[in-house]
Amino acid sequence: MTTKIAVFASGSGSNFQAIQEAIERGELNAKVELVVTDKPEAFVVTRAKQFGIPVHAFSAKSYTSKEEYEAEIVALLRDRKIEWVVLAGYMRLIGHTLLSAYSNRIVNIHPSLLPSFPGKDAIGQAMDHGVKVTGVTVHFVDEGMDTGPILAQAAVEVVDGNHEETEARIHAVEHELYTKTLKKLFEN
Ligand code: GAR
Repeated sequence: MTTKIAVFASGSGSNFQAIQEAIERGELNAKVELVVTDKPEAFVVTRAKQFGIPVHAFSAKSYTSKEEYEAEIVALLRDRKIEWVVLAGYMRLIGHTLLSAYSNRIVNIHPSLLPSFPGKDAIGQAMDHGVKVTGVTVHFVDEGMDTGPILAQAAVEVVDGNHEETEARIHAVEHELYTKTLKKLFEN
């Protein structure tokens, strides 16, 4: 059975695109029913449109609370019978409303070997600490910041003093690891 998913992103959306391309190649039996973004100007919106995937773009500041915008999102997800929420560079903490509606059905990817370097700019944090090896983690989402049970990890060697090159290596690993991990998850 094809798994119906929503991808949440706040930025470029390269992970979203990698997932969508894996679906189109027949490597992942899923359908991205909706892209959700809290950044209406983000490049992920352009990518979603290129694939003909509907987008729900919202501005958190137009709502009085997280509960309010998440309740609207939950209604959209339920309308489309979405089974899994896939966070791909969504830079907001998930609140109780979404967590309780999609309990154990929300996953995230993070550009470090968690529990090291949670939060923003994980690659910059790793480089500032001078680590030689960092990596990628896919994990279930709970109420914490990049916490929750770990599903998969892969190591990536830091390119000394070169953030851009290190990031490119991390992205390449993310694109492969996320698809593989989602495939296992949806098949179980
Ligand atoms: C990815 O590296 C992802 O791991 C990271 O944001 C980037 C989004 O890139 N997520 C986090 O830092 C979550 N705490 P993309 O928009 O090109 O997919």
